[in-house]
Amino acid sequence: MGQQTGQITFLLNGDPVIADDISATTTLLDWLREGRGLKGTKEGCNEGDCGACTVMVTDSDGARAVNACILFLPQLHGKAVRTVEGIAGPDGALHPVQQAMVDHHGSQCGFCTPGFIVSMACAHLNGRTDHDDVLAGNLCRCTGYAPIVRAAEAAASEPVPDWMTEDLSKLGALAAPGGGVALPASSDDLATWYAAHPDATLVGGATDVGLWVTKALRDLDEVAFLNGVSDLKFIDIGADEVKIGAVTSLTDVGGAMADLHPSFAEMIRRYGSTQVRNAATIGGNIANGSPIGDSPPALIALGATLHLRKGDTRRSLPLEDFFIEYGKQDRAKGEFVEAVSIPRQPDRLKCYKLSKRFDQDISAVCGCFNITVEDGTVTGTRIAFGGMAGTPKRATAVEAAITGQPWTQETLDAAADAWARDFTPMSDMRASAAYRLETARNMLTRYFLEDTGAGATSVLEVSA
Ligand SMILES: Cc1cc2nc3c(=O)[nH]c(=O)nc-3n(C[C@H](O)[C@H](O)[C@H](O)COP(=O)(O)OP(=O)(O)OC[C@H]3O[C@@H](n4cnc5c(N)ncnc54)[C@H](O)[C@@H]3O)c2cc1C
Ligand code: FES
Ligand code: FES
Repeated sequence: MGQQTGQITFLLNGDPVIADDISATTTLLDWLREGRGLKGTKEGCNEGDCGACTVMVTDSDGARAVNACILFLPQLHGKAVRTVEGIAGPDGALHPVQQAMVDHHGSQCGFCTPGFIVSMACAHLNGRTDHDDVLAGNLCRCTGYAPIVRAAEAAASEPVPDWMTEDLSKLGALAAPGGGVALPASSDDLATWYAAHPDATLVGGATDVGLWVTKALRDLDEVAFLNGVSDLKFIDIGADEVKIGAVTSLTDVGGAMADLHPSFAEMIRRYGSTQVRNAATIGGNIANGSPIGDSPPALIALGATLHLRKGDTRRSLPLEDFFIEYGKQDRAKGEFVEAVSIPRQPDRLKCYKLSKRFDQDISAVCGCFNITVEDGTVTGTRIAFGGMAGTPKRATAVEAAITGQPWTQETLDAAADAWARDFTPMSDMRASAAYRLETARNMLTRYFLEDTGAGATSVLEVSA
């Protein structure tokens, strides 16, 4: 059994509630269903994939849809949660998205429907009309998406019901929850606490750690939740660099990249789902050291620097040097990721995420290319991959083979052998080693064709 929490206080469907002295790794889904008897929020996969457990969480950053199955209760301290039971009005009046789902026959067996309703109500509140992206994390096995999207479209012009606005002042002055759980409010607090508890687990968005608990049934002892560390939630776009705080969500990173490096933003659109991106942090995506994490290859291709802190000591290193080997990163006990920064530069980045499904799928190969060409000659090359080695890794032999050469198909052909010097990928359920190597090579060709306008390269459209 992990640490007990003390008092976690939040609004549940508009009313203050206190979850008292529960295990720090109790998920919101379990607490709702077993602790409160609120069974509208469904358990489908219990690992963030299906959206049946979608709830709306509101705090000073606004309202967002997240998966309750991989959300720990302490992450909710001081926030508002709205479940499907709180989407209709207090007098039972249907929310516009509920009425539209009835009118447009958006439900059959109904198991997925509560999750869809919450995702749709949250998008409706935020004025989002990109329904395909909003709903990519909600899986329906029987209705089909057309009636559901029609319902979302029909509801879009209806006003937001007043009961959907959360009044966080109802929580009153919030005390620290006490118990054995750390909810640091600043990076200084975190640094002090973590230096004194170097074996503790840090939880960013819990989109990895949540699965350690729900799937691997791991018991976490000491835990610090980072979602309250507000000074690590930032994106500073300066003249020379863009600096991103570790606790910034992938949703916010994607938003910032839309102008700076649109291909990175487009890749993030395919990272997990809306619910996953709303929870997952850039710090967690780097610190977990996953060889198939999507942001590290893009960041490495952009020449990113990682900023780490332990107690009062800070250090910075090129992001690629952080990943030593599979499961091993250059991070000492008690040291945490504070931020990552990338130099400002003209946008030459292209990110290609190859996965079996377009939406909500882990990459088999993720290739990121940042190649500068001047007067027809390659003058700067940064190429980084996920899914090709035990860590996110640069293609240094390929980079060397094309830098200084004419930007031509002949140069790419001459570099063909370099790929095998850079990578000996593995075969697994996502792809074979040979397929990975071949597609990596093809991605450079795709970059070249896109850059020189020599051919149609969209993977979403078929052209004759
Ligand atoms: C359904 C689903 C789909 C997914 N799809 C994708 C995808 O398409 N692409 C992808 O890359 N990933 C994907 N993931 C994986 C996951 O979302 C990412 O790895 C995510 O970025 C982890 O961030 P987090 O904040 O949730 O990390 P957490 O789960 O909170 O933590 C992950 C690890 O990082 C450590 N950590 C967190 N923050 C810090 C910090 N500031 N300093 C030091 N250590 C820290 C934790 O202790 C833990 O070891 C998916 C996950 C799910 C559940
Ligand atoms: S139960 Fe499937 S995402 Fe939570
Ligand atoms: S209505 Fe049956 S799974 Fe969606």
